[in-house]
Amino acid sequence: MSDSIGDTTAPEIETETESEVETGSESVADAAVGDEADPTITTVDNPVVEANELTVHYDDVQALQPVSMGIPEEEVTAIIGPSGCGKSTFLRCINRMNDLVDAARMNGELRFKGKNVYDEEVDPVALRRKIGMVFQKPNPFPKSIYDNVAYGLKVRDDTENLDERVERALKRAALWDEVKDQLDESGLELSGGQQQRLCIARAIAADPEVILMDEPASALDPVATSKIEDLIAELAEDYTVIVVTHNMQQAARISDKTAVFLTGGKLVEFDDTQKIFENPDHQRVEDYITGKFG
Ligand SMILES: Nc1ncnc2c1ncn2[C@@H]1O[C@H](COP(=O)(O)OP(=O)(O)OP(=O)(O)O)[C@@H](O)[C@H]1O
Ligand SMILES: [Mg+2]
Repeated sequence: MSDSIGDTTAPEIETETESEVETGSESVADAAVGDEADPTITTVDNPVVEANELTVHYDDVQALQPVSMGIPEEEVTAIIGPSGCGKSTFLRCINRMNDLVDAARMNGELRFKGKNVYDEEVDPVALRRKIGMVFQKPNPFPKSIYDNVAYGLKVRDDTENLDERVERALKRAALWDEVKDQLDESGLELSGGQQQRLCIARAIAADPEVILMDEPASALDPVATSKIEDLIAELAEDYTVIVVTHNMQQAARISDKTAVFLTGGKLVEFDDTQKIFENPDHQRVEDYITGKFG
């Protein structure tokens, strides 16, 4: 992976044994971040998702500085950073949701299981079944609970054992016990936390490998939030979960790895969550996670 990093503006890939990070000449991006050291990006063996020099512009505005990092399989990776630093932009690159944003232009590579998802032959709809997404605001369809989960399967005429698959997805999303007697009722009548778990069930029904979550609990009360957090931990037994959160405690509680983006759309540090929260390499990361800004 580091072979392809030749550009001096690229984040430096550091192995875990290296402790010193070289300080290069300060680029515009560094100045925006206000951090003199180069990024510290820990390498991951056999990443399921891998960004190589990934950048995103919205028209002329650069939202992501070159991002190179690997996301480990069947673990929870948290993405944190202040508002506007490009967290959602990065997440949306992974399953090509940015294709739906007219102004967005992406360069570099984003690999899923080794294949660049931006290759011409990749079908974004099929990709989004393998890389599902859950948004900040629960967005169930105005349909029954059953049909919310079954919808994607019905659309592709993949209806064998449909009842069983709906039940399995609802169980996996920790919602089955609460809704099993009301499957014909509207998904919109559920509570916010239940709606979010319904959306997770809908993503799971498509049989994904990666689940992207963009602040999945930020609109929920503490009890519903705690259920989503428990669920994320359980999901990581079978799926790779990448979750954007503004909640530091939540990132510390639920994730194995944490990526910190800072102002200017720069990935500054990516490492084991414990390291990021207990002993980050970058002063700006420490300032951010201790609430000094952002
Ligand atoms: N559709 C868009 N058109 C133009 N600019 C955009 C668009 N979406 C995002 N941006 C810009 O790109 C930058 C990164 O935005 P993004 O939504 O990825 O940040 P974020 O880290 O998710 O922020 P938040 O924490 O507030 O959700 C911001 O400057 C934002 O204004
Ligand atoms: Mg966002």
